[in-house]
Amino acid sequence: MKAILFDRFGGTDVLHEADIEVPQPGPGQIRVRVRAAGLNALDGKIRSGAMQAAFPTPLPAVPGAELAGVVDALGEGVQDVQVGDEVLGWSDTGSYAEYALATTVVPKPAGLDWQHAVALPVAGETAERVLDLLGVTAGETVLMHGAAGAVGTLAVQLATARGARVIATAGPANQDYLTSLGATATLYGEGLVERVRALAPDGVDAVFDLAGKGALEDSIALRGGTGRIVTIADFRAHQLGVTFSSGGQERSAARLAELAQDAATGKLVTTVTAYPLTEAATAQQVSDAGHGRGKLALTVG
Ligand SMILES: NC(=O)c1ccc[n+]([C@@H]2O[C@H](COP(=O)([O-])OP(=O)(O)OC[C@H]3O[C@@H](n4cnc5c(N)ncnc54)[C@H](OP(=O)(O)O)[C@@H]3O)[C@@H](O)[C@H]2O)c1
Repeated sequence: MKAILFDRFGGTDVLHEADIEVPQPGPGQIRVRVRAAGLNALDGKIRSGAMQAAFPTPLPAVPGAELAGVVDALGEGVQDVQVGDEVLGWSDTGSYAEYALATTVVPKPAGLDWQHAVALPVAGETAERVLDLLGVTAGETVLMHGAAGAVGTLAVQLATARGARVIATAGPANQDYLTSLGATATLYGEGLVERVRALAPDGVDAVFDLAGKGALEDSIALRGGTGRIVTIADFRAHQLGVTFSSGGQERSAARLAELAQDAATGKLVTTVTAYPLTEAATAQQVSDAGHGRGKLALTVG
């Protein structure tokens, strides 16, 4: 099968197309004929070698942690999915490929296309995990740093659906986008504390840092301490006494299925820019540049 892989760490030039063996599903796994793969900022961090200390990646490696596609083969003991089912979920093997293995998938609603389906597993789980960890409830004000990307697009909508007010930061090009999602938009960078205080004179109840671009000190100033601040991207968190949240095994198929239904009916907006699989390096360059709007996806076949 065709796949995108890298056999050394480095820039996007290490990514290349290759013909590799089709993976065989083990017990509890399914094999999916991939129609779209989700691209995550983490894919570029792994490719660069920056994550080797935290998550050692054996080479060669096929990137990609999520997929949407058609079930093609069942491993031993799989009963709730049939060959031919259209699904979306997390991949156990790299999803920048024609076939990948998966364990946790849900049915893809007919009204949701492949590329919008892959906007949901990683970003949806991350957004909800952090909103739960922060304990965001109706009537509260949440500050989100860098909310125009893949996770932020969902986090803004999921927080407003809980009845919270969201103040969210982005660059100049994404201010209107954040407003369209339901947030009060403001710029990141110098003067942030004053801008947020002007927008929320009574203070912010919680802070979700999605960018990891040095906004933790401002967050501590705005909260008057480190309570109810969570980052998913700033590795200085522990040093500053702030909570860092990493993806674990708390994946809820039931909740992913609900998000998929909401995306299919338009209740949850997903914004996707898709590239063909063969242009994975270009897509990762866009991701590495760090100023995306919504989700990046790769279409396969
Ligand atoms: N720990 C976890 O569980 C977990 C899970 C998923 C993702 N992540 C990490 O979380 C981060 C966000 O993920 P993502 O998929 O949403 O990324 P993304 O789609 O690439 O979005 C990144 C966003 O960062 C914004 N940004 C760039 N520079 C900024 C700055 N100086 N201050 C504030 N915002 C800035 C950009 O907005 P503008 O274009 O408007 O500049 C862009 O929308 C990534 O680092 C990713 O690796 C962690």
